[in-house]
Amino acid sequence: MNPAQLMVLLCAAVSAMVCFCIYLVSKGREPAARHWHLDSARCGDYPDELCSALLDGKEVAAALGAQCEQLHRELPAIDTGLPVNCSRLLAERSYITQPLSQEEASFPLAYILVVHKNLQTLEWLFRAIYMPQNVYCIHVDKKTPAGFRRAVAQLAACFDNVFLASQAESVVYGGFSRLQADLNCMEELVLSRVHWKYALNLCGQDFPLKTNRELVRLLKQRWKNKNITPGILQPDHIKHRTTYVHREYISPAESYVIKTQFRKTAAPPHRLKLYFGSAYYALTREFVDFVLRDKRAQDLLRWSRDTYSPDEHYWVTLSRLSDAPGADPSAEWQGSIRSIKWLDQTQVTHNGCKGHYVRNICVYGLGDLEWLVQRDSLFANKFEVENHPLMAQCMERWLRRKTLSQSEVPIQPGWHMKSNKCFFDIEGNDCSTTLT
Ligand SMILES: *[C@@H]1O[C@H](CO)[C@@H](O)[C@H](O)[C@H]1NC(C)=O
Repeated sequence: MNPAQLMVLLCAAVSAMVCFCIYLVSKGREPAARHWHLDSARCGDYPDELCSALLDGKEVAAALGAQCEQLHRELPAIDTGLPVNCSRLLAERSYITQPLSQEEASFPLAYILVVHKNLQTLEWLFRAIYMPQNVYCIHVDKKTPAGFRRAVAQLAACFDNVFLASQAESVVYGGFSRLQADLNCMEELVLSRVHWKYALNLCGQDFPLKTNRELVRLLKQRWKNKNITPGILQPDHIKHRTTYVHREYISPAESYVIKTQFRKTAAPPHRLKLYFGSAYYALTREFVDFVLRDKRAQDLLRWSRDTYSPDEHYWVTLSRLSDAPGADPSAEWQGSIRSIKWLDQTQVTHNGCKGHYVRNICVYGLGDLEWLVQRDSLFANKFEVENHPLMAQCMERWLRRKTLSQSEVPIQPGWHMKSNKCFFDIEGNDCSTTLT
């Protein structure tokens, strides 16, 4: 080989190496971003890809998402005119029909759902939290139209571990009735055949961020038979809630709590020190038994009838007593039960609401997905599937994938969330009852 030939060979070898290196580097990177066709007729062809891109906060997906959101339809609401075919309902809506691990089977949870509207949102939440080993009490507002109650009753009748609270209250925002509704469920839950370990309460516009397995693990390992009742000693600016007499006002059109000019005459019973905190909790079975039986709990309940939003002092006050089971007198705000985007927390704890605000609380939109799936709390609030159906579908697919990936039993094909291409029909055809 002469020097010229050697030179050519060397050059070839070096360029081959360079090419190979470039290949390796580009292979290691993420594949080039998929070109999202802004062709809304195709929205239904790749809901999983679109959802993944949205969950990752990819901007390329946002525009398509916004278009698809308008065309997307949520599963049809339960038709109250006809008897529900339960086996069909369970199959079509991908309900999980078997405990997914021994760990979960031996640690059942009790859920209290206080609901009054948004049937589709409620069913979306319900199929996300439903597990056959748990027990569910649904309190349907007494003021709600009969059709809503019938639909929820039809849904509940498909499961032997789901029931409607037999004693229904007319629930007023900020009123005593909200607290009473939880207690009505508890009275019945303690009689259940299910030996549940913790009770959790939800409203109809919540959604879980943790799988059942993650919840069970967290309660067993992190909380170890302690209640999660975030809260602190009642601050001064809240004291008017419990020093003035309040009354619930209920009419068919609207209901609210009125603050009267009268001061409450009695101090809290048993010299109880009032706390202020979350109306949402995770309570141990023993603590719930205690609340239903203990004299201080009963007297505090009676005393709280004319206070404002007693659910924000009742649970946390009792859960700070040194002798209550599951109580922790030194606890403060720890335990993140809910992720909420409050309007006044914009750019403080969150990046702004991409949906819309209702009563200073964000109703999540598509653009909130990335933020939501990064939260560490147990649940998030507030959702309206009716207004943000694609966002809802992405949330439930994200949670279900996580749920099934943690399963220890063989996964049944019916447990994967089905996609419904017809929901995206660009012609505007009403094909929302066809499941693919
Ligand atoms: C309920 O639906 C299932 C599955 O679609 C079907 O096989 C069954 O015949 C239906 N039952 C009734 C009573 O309609």
